[in-house]
Amino acid sequence: MNRQEYDRKYSEKLDIFLKYSENVFSGLNSESKICEAMKYSFFAGGKRIRPVLMLCFSDIIGGNDEKVLPFAFALECIHTYSLIHDDLPALDNDDMRRGRPSCHIVYKESGAILAGDALLNLAFEHLLKNCNSGKDVKAAYLIADHAGFSGMLGGQALDIESENGVDFDENKLLSIYEKKTGKFLKLPFTVPATLFNEEFLGASEEYGNYFGLLFQFVDDLLDVKGNPDIIGKSTGKDEEANKLTSIKIYGINGVYDRINHLKNKLIDCAKRLDDSGFLNCLVDSVVERI
Ligand code: IPE
Ligand code: IPE
Ligand code: MG
Ligand code: MG
Ligand code: MG
Repeated sequence: MNRQEYDRKYSEKLDIFLKYSENVFSGLNSESKICEAMKYSFFAGGKRIRPVLMLCFSDIIGGNDEKVLPFAFALECIHTYSLIHDDLPALDNDDMRRGRPSCHIVYKESGAILAGDALLNLAFEHLLKNCNSGKDVKAAYLIADHAGFSGMLGGQALDIESENGVDFDENKLLSIYEKKTGKFLKLPFTVPATLFNEEFLGASEEYGNYFGLLFQFVDDLLDVKGNPDIIGKSTGKDEEANKLTSIKIYGINGVYDRINHLKNKLIDCAKRLDDSGFLNCLVDSVVERI
């Protein structure tokens, strides 16, 4: 697969995902303020890398869109809620997200807290409605587990605790990143593997681990050197909050070195998962953003 074919595939799956999501939201009571706030953040844009990747990886291992779409939708709902809450004044205090004023700027803190909660709940309403087999339940459980205290939320808690810390510990950094970012970037691989072919589970986990780390390293660099108009969020926030980031531990050049190292690991690991070249194009597209 070359880059053009990759871009075509990405936009084809993005289209399918957005149509599906619009359909789910159109079934909700859109008169209510909470629904308006949920849609405001969900449809603000964003790369949709988690759901699109889930659909693409599912194709790679012989799955199908119909089965995986409810899982992709649930994951994007939970991810969007995590961003709404991440931006709240009590967490990262960010005014801009996905190229728009953050949810709490438009709907006040109360509205943003409730819209986030409602998106989290919607994810599980939708999953439960669409679970028809033991495998489905297993895949839904993976999402629940990775969103909770041992996953994204646990990582967010450690991230906040790390602010203004004096303890520059690499293991602590890696544990924060594995939880707050890595767990959700593993799911696009492990959910299809659980649903369609468990033989891919081991390699999927390994690939997701490296990919999540690479993704957060890129995000850290973008916080330093990104253009807010392009990345759709403010920059300089990590330093302002004195967060424990990869840049604090390795320095900017060190982060680039680690990204190159991770790229090689990912190329190696992709050999066990993907003959098409899709995953290597994916990694290039993420690294290209810096
Ligand atoms: C932002 O995720 C939060 C991180 C894990 C770094 P994305 O970079 O995927 O944000 P959107 O979904 O495209 O807005
Ligand atoms: C957030 O990490 C990861 C989440 C679980 C939301 P960041 O705080 O670095 O994400 P951005 O930079 O605000 O998107
Ligand atoms: Mg944060
Ligand atoms: Mg943040
Ligand atoms: Mg960031």
